[in-house]
Amino acid sequence: MKLADYKATLSFSNGSPAVDMPIYQGNIGPDVIDIRKLYAQTGKFTYDPGFLSTAACQSTITYIDGDKGELLYRGYPIEQLATNCDFLETCHLLLYGDLPDAAKKKDFTSRVTNHTMVNEQMQFFLRGFRRDAHPMAIMTGLVGALSAFYHDSTDVHNAEHRDISAIRLIAKMPTLVAMAYKYSVGQPFIYPKNDLSYAGNFMHMMFATPCEEYKVNPVIERAMDRIFILHADHEQNASTSTVRLCGSSGTNPFAAIAAGVACLWGPAHGGANEACLEMLEDIQRMGGVSKVGEFMEKVKDKNSGVKLMGFGHRVYKNYDPRAKLMQETCNEVLTALGLENDPLFKLAKQLEKIALEDDYFVQRKLYPNVDFYSGIVQRAIGIPVKLFTGIFALARTVGWIAQLNEMIGDPEYKIGRPRQLFTGSVKRDVMPIAKR
Ligand code: ACO
Repeated sequence: MKLADYKATLSFSNGSPAVDMPIYQGNIGPDVIDIRKLYAQTGKFTYDPGFLSTAACQSTITYIDGDKGELLYRGYPIEQLATNCDFLETCHLLLYGDLPDAAKKKDFTSRVTNHTMVNEQMQFFLRGFRRDAHPMAIMTGLVGALSAFYHDSTDVHNAEHRDISAIRLIAKMPTLVAMAYKYSVGQPFIYPKNDLSYAGNFMHMMFATPCEEYKVNPVIERAMDRIFILHADHEQNASTSTVRLCGSSGTNPFAAIAAGVACLWGPAHGGANEACLEMLEDIQRMGGVSKVGEFMEKVKDKNSGVKLMGFGHRVYKNYDPRAKLMQETCNEVLTALGLENDPLFKLAKQLEKIALEDDYFVQRKLYPNVDFYSGIVQRAIGIPVKLFTGIFALARTVGWIAQLNEMIGDPEYKIGRPRQLFTGSVKRDVMPIAKR
């Protein structure tokens, strides 16, 4: 961290002495005021629910410029990664800091590929779930259970354990998501195939059956790979911060990632892609494009509780760069599958057009986020809506683990322990039950 040549001074109107606080500068992005000694110096905490103005760590992995609508993984723009690299190259970049050369890529791909099978016993664990369980409920359980199946890589303070658990998680997530899907439709699990690409193998485990050959469609394979790249990391979002906080206690990597999966499930975060598609289907049922105006009125009415899912973002106050790439993929997939006239895609485009011109959205700087189009792509590929967030979890696993490993390796890391402003009852005595 680079100390800035200026400092912050906090003064109080009640006569308490002012305090100086150092300021640090990142390589890009806003400077940060170091408030770590604030409580010791003033007896006061800061109050920032939702972390609107709080940097909880230093990081070298992902940078977002929300005003420009820019996303960089280790300095590389997402647009360049999505068009020139595949997901495993992106994983290497996030985990180890740089894109692999051909030899490193071969080695990394081989390490991941050789860890794609899961312990056979995990099938029996999975079979304990109801067939109609939500895939994210299953994924939270399965990922947490990995720590019971892979004891030999659970010491988060051991760099070798961290590396092997990273490879295991990246390799096994597609297998687990596909198993959760197969279980829900009552089909046999399909084992991984080492001659397929990461995305191709996932498609094969999802859609092949033992009865007939399944040929992976290269357009769909590329689209899936792009979905993985676009979701691979996103700085200190809710699930990543959950992984860091959970991991800060020294728990094992599988447990920390399971906490991330649980957090991602919420509709304000990863669950938005599922919620977005459900919203589009609801409007379609109500009458489609002709009902868009009516729906938008509800969205703008604060009392309705209706939000335009797939719109808005805590950090992006401009078009989410991932949404642009996803819209491109959406066009490609729908064309390749002969679904150019897909009514939901038309509806989404109409909603987007109206929202981008509407004062309510313009004033609040609300733009489409990645989830606005990812649901349409996944639905076209044949992925059931309930599995969307599971696929997001699959892709985000590399980001979570890179962030967790970065935190453990940071000499400044401490167990996370936020403070509070207490507004409950002051000390009181317990009365005997007859007198309460
Ligand atoms: N539809 C309608 N109004 C919205 C929307 C929306 N999608 N998003 C924000 N607003 C409004 C808010 O009501 C608020 O209005 P106000 O200032 O009049 O009170 C204003 O815009 C600011 O929004 P906040 O909710 O304060 O912004 P915050 O940063 O807390 O929330 C969030 C961001 C949760 C993403 C929000 O925009 C939202 O719920 N969007 C829909 C869900 C979604 O798409 N989530 C995916 C996020 S991306 C991801 O996880 C991959």
